[in-house]
Amino acid sequence: MSLCVLEDVWKTYTLGDVRVDVLRGVSLSIEPGEFTAVMGPSGSGKTTLMNILGCLDVPSDGRYILAGKDVTHMSDDELSRMRSEYIGFIFQSFHLLPYATALENVLLPTLYVERRLDGRRKRAMELLALVGLGDRAGFKPSQLSGGQQQRVAIARALMNAPRIILADEPTGALDSGTAKDIMNLLTELNRQGTTVVVVTHDPEVAGYARRIVKVRDGVVVEDTETASKAGERPVHDALLA
Ligand SMILES: Nc1ncnc2c1ncn2[C@@H]1O[C@H](COP(=O)(O)OP(=O)(O)OP(=O)(O)O)[C@@H](O)[C@H]1O
Ligand SMILES: [Mg+2]
Repeated sequence: MSLCVLEDVWKTYTLGDVRVDVLRGVSLSIEPGEFTAVMGPSGSGKTTLMNILGCLDVPSDGRYILAGKDVTHMSDDELSRMRSEYIGFIFQSFHLLPYATALENVLLPTLYVERRLDGRRKRAMELLALVGLGDRAGFKPSQLSGGQQQRVAIARALMNAPRIILADEPTGALDSGTAKDIMNLLTELNRQGTTVVVVTHDPEVAGYARRIVKVRDGVVVEDTETASKAGERPVHDALLA
């Protein structure tokens, strides 16, 4: 079963009496275990598309099925439940809480999850160790480098063991060496079974993906698989399951 299915999705904003069609009939399926890059010019609708995939927004028309559930007409509460069950987000500017420590930032997604704090803290520490920050748990974002902050954000995205990671320009604020570290980490998570969708302008970053979807003026104009895709099967690691 496909993980994400967009069926003829439109997104229209009305500003005064001007209608702007930002997405104009996008149909797209994402399979479990895929590593997809979304590319396209500024303003072409990539973030809008990611927001819909991540249940941060809903289509104006068409349908979106996530993990077999039609989310098109869900309430805000239902959408936020879908997000915490299925989705991990990574943003260009990290979006960490400035006054919280790395550990507290990683714990954030579990605020609404009924689980004992001890277990959650243990998992958060394991995830910080996984991203190479086991010794930085008590540091605030301002005491961390950009790459370290993004790794905290990745640990946070993994906290609820999401099926899919949506990353909108995750390396946009990083130098190329640090960007490589982040992409290697996403590649490893993907190898362990997490589906990854990354928006990027950078062909180097897109090179990590096995599928490239190009968007222009709110439509998908190109959808290509790159060679290495065949033969790989996702395996779910104990930490991520
Ligand atoms: N809330 C909104 N109201 C009105 N128009 C919007 C809204 N959000 C986005 N848009 C418009 O939708 C278009 C696509 O925006 P989007 O953020 O999806 O582009 P993008 O491809 O992510 O661009 P970039 O590469 O610059 O991040 C833009 O023209 C933008 O002005
Ligand atoms: Mg964008």
